[in-house]
Amino acid sequence: MRERFRVVGGARLVGEVTVVGAKNSALKLMAVALLAEGRTTLTNVPAIADVTIMAELLRRLGVGVEYVPEENRVVLDVPATIGHRADYELVRALRASISVLGPLVARTGQADVAVPGGDAIGSRGLDLHAAALESLGAKVHVTHGYLVAEAPDGLRGAEIRLDFPSVGATENALTASVLARGTTTIDNVAKEPEIVDIANMLTSMGAQIEGAGTSRIVVHGVEALSPTEHAVVPDRIAAGTWAFAGATTRGDVEVVGGVADHLRVPLGMLADAGCTVESTDRGFRVAVRDGRPRSFDVATLPYPGFPTDLQPFALAYNVVADGSAMVTENLFEARFRTVQELARLGAEAQIDGHHVMTHGVPLLSGAPVESSDIRSGAALVIAGLVAEGDTLVSGVHHIDRGYPRFEVALRALGADVTREPDDALDFD
Ligand code: UD1
Repeated sequence: MRERFRVVGGARLVGEVTVVGAKNSALKLMAVALLAEGRTTLTNVPAIADVTIMAELLRRLGVGVEYVPEENRVVLDVPATIGHRADYELVRALRASISVLGPLVARTGQADVAVPGGDAIGSRGLDLHAAALESLGAKVHVTHGYLVAEAPDGLRGAEIRLDFPSVGATENALTASVLARGTTTIDNVAKEPEIVDIANMLTSMGAQIEGAGTSRIVVHGVEALSPTEHAVVPDRIAAGTWAFAGATTRGDVEVVGGVADHLRVPLGMLADAGCTVESTDRGFRVAVRDGRPRSFDVATLPYPGFPTDLQPFALAYNVVADGSAMVTENLFEARFRTVQELARLGAEAQIDGHHVMTHGVPLLSGAPVESSDIRSGAALVIAGLVAEGDTLVSGVHHIDRGYPRFEVALRALGADVTREPDDALDFD
């Protein structure tokens, strides 16, 4: 059944909200578990639909998966022999499925992973993933919609340089090289906290890795890895979402479990714009004590720059903040679907190539809007809180992919947001 959120405008979010482990780490760590035979346990796993899809993908590879969302735990029983194919059906539903590529080639000498189709946030190639595996000695080709990587005699250490610090390509290069013969250096890698989380888990499994979190990772290959127990790193994008939610609604929100250090750039910008940003014993807090904070320019960049996944929230913030500002998207094409929906709420925002110019208005005007992906959907809900009247946000299944029970967390902060059937006409 299709669902939508009914957002009653005029709420100032006040109180505390807890963030758990990062979606973008948990999914990859589940794939990392493939590298060792035996029982691996992940804790602090978010209760979201994407984990269920990844669990199904791993089951089809022969892994026993026990997912207990209420306890934020996944237990993976990896057999001695595993399959090597990730079906299109699942990869299409979950692009992060391509993170099984590295572990499968390393562990079985073969991976057949469907090439993800069109993506709602611009074209995202796999060329860097393929080049990294080829450097490690795999033969890679695309056939019948599948990227096939073969290394029947195992991978061997190599010097790899990524043309761009892609998160996904860094992960696959890292997970492929841990069992390779000899030493691998990977230059120009992504430095995201999720990469460090993967390296930490791999290290606890017996891998030898130096430099995670810097631009150069060095891996000394080992014969085999052992299963482990690992807690997923806190979700910096969820934490950043709540930071912007507090600022945009001119509220006062403590983000319990949030790591301010992982959000230095966005939190610094909010502080410079007139919001109160402080560390607390349990995380951090963002508050607007008086008046209307100022808008600010944003340009998305690889970590530690401003995260592209927070760009829709910067837009929702700027369209109600004081002044004009420019938001620039440098990582993905076509990631501005939020803009036309914000315009339906009365926002003043114009797209010009990969820039959006905004001019803040004090109050938006509630209307039906459509979410096109996880982050734009959540940003539209937040914008609806700063609108006069009701905003109906359809496409709730997108939001559910990234935020466990988003409406429940919002209600705990004083918002009036309810989930209801979406009775919109469907001509598909
Ligand atoms: C991950 C995150 C996503 C986030 C992004 C950037 C997950 C599941 N997703 O996506 O939420 O927005 O990082 O922080 O973790 N590229 C190529 N060729 C490649 C690989 C990437 O051209 O082989 C390009 C992409 O088209 C894109 C840019 O590099 O323009 C960044 O992509 P990448 O860092 O790989 O993002 P993902 O790992 O897909």
